[in-house]
Amino acid sequence: MLSNTIEKSLNDQIRIEAESSQIYLAMACWAEVKGLEGVAKFMYAQSDEERDHMLKLVKYINERGGHAQISALKAPNVTFNSFKEMFEKLFEHEVFVSASINELVHIALQEKDYATHNFLQWYVSEQIEEEAMARTILDKIKLIGDDKGGLYLFDRDIQQLTITTSIDPVQ
Ligand SMILES: [Fe+2]
Ligand SMILES: [Fe+2]
Repeated sequence: MLSNTIEKSLNDQIRIEAESSQIYLAMACWAEVKGLEGVAKFMYAQSDEERDHMLKLVKYINERGGHAQISALKAPNVTFNSFKEMFEKLFEHEVFVSASINELVHIALQEKDYATHNFLQWYVSEQIEEEAMARTILDKIKLIGDDKGGLYLFDRDIQQLTITTSIDPVQ
């Protein structure tokens, strides 16, 4: 059985993941209409991933005798001044998500909910990867600057970006 505090914290995290999925879907659309097919494809996939994270949390709450809450979401930004700005926002958002997961892990320990603490370990590892990926992309975009040719190549190659971190996510 989940405590009310844990259930509420997990439900808050469901909302954060759902909002992440919407944020990246909006970025995918913006990239697509701007003609960057590769970036759009990448962002659509990111959006799906965030939804998967959300579903994992949903199922965990329901399995543990709680009730996952599907709530209203904040509307995402739908336009950006540049790709650099878009990827800055993506990176900032991943840093924000990392902080929220840390807080969640902290609450699980405080509540002495070791099952939830254990469950959250995949999430911690996954988030290390997500933040590293966002940082790598932002570094590349900063290197490219205003160079159109660079952006063209980046759009072509973004699918090949893989990040290896010291910790493998436990699926
Ligand atoms: Fe996520
Ligand atoms: Fe993410």
